[in-house]
Amino acid sequence: MSEIIVAVDGPAGSGKSSVSKEAARRLGYAYLDTGAAYRALAWHCLDEGIDVENADAVAERARSFDYATGMDPDHYFVRVGGEDITPDIREPRVTAVVSAVARVSEVREALNAMFRRMMSEHPRPGVIAEGRDITTVVAPDAPVRVLLTATEEARIARRSAEVSAQTTEATAQQLASRDRQDSRVVDFMTAADGVITIDSTDIDFEQTVQALIDTVRSGL
Ligand code: C5P
Repeated sequence: MSEIIVAVDGPAGSGKSSVSKEAARRLGYAYLDTGAAYRALAWHCLDEGIDVENADAVAERARSFDYATGMDPDHYFVRVGGEDITPDIREPRVTAVVSAVARVSEVREALNAMFRRMMSEHPRPGVIAEGRDITTVVAPDAPVRVLLTATEEARIARRSAEVSAQTTEATAQQLASRDRQDSRVVDFMTAADGVITIDSTDIDFEQTVQALIDTVRSGL
């Protein structure tokens, strides 16, 4: 394992990806976006015509698909079978089915094993890994564990600013529906024992990055 693992969980639109990536850059740590792997698997199933409701077929792909990710050098890339699909995994058609893929327990087992392997291979002094169950399942023994949260209203406002092609109502509905589906599988709305909560509702991006860096420094 990397010397230091910083585990960050949170709901959709909490800013955990952008905040974790920037904090990792400033600390000189590696960054691991676990949601990107679930998205890449969902993209791969759509691309191959695999029914995302077919748990066995999806699990088989989770164990065998050729996934690669990392910084290149400062752009976070996602590749499947050597093809760069970094922007594609954010497409609405992928977001719409990713929760179905993520609820299959064999998928989670396969991806969790891959995440642990990736964390152990990082040559940097530390890694910030973010997702929904990093603090509780993937790296429950991490020395720093953070739940990054914000009110649903704040999260919808942020997501709406990113997704300008649809109405705020549509964005709100999608975000709430995905959180509802994901919450049935893992609890990322409440902090587990020993997990520090950072609420970004009333602070801006820069302050949230600083809060995460301060939490890392004081936790070590
Ligand atoms: O973080 P992001 O919104 O990109 O995650 C996409 C999806 O991947 C989530 O909606 C969830 O279904 C799944 N996910 C998960 N466990 C994680 C990270 C993401 O189930 N650790």
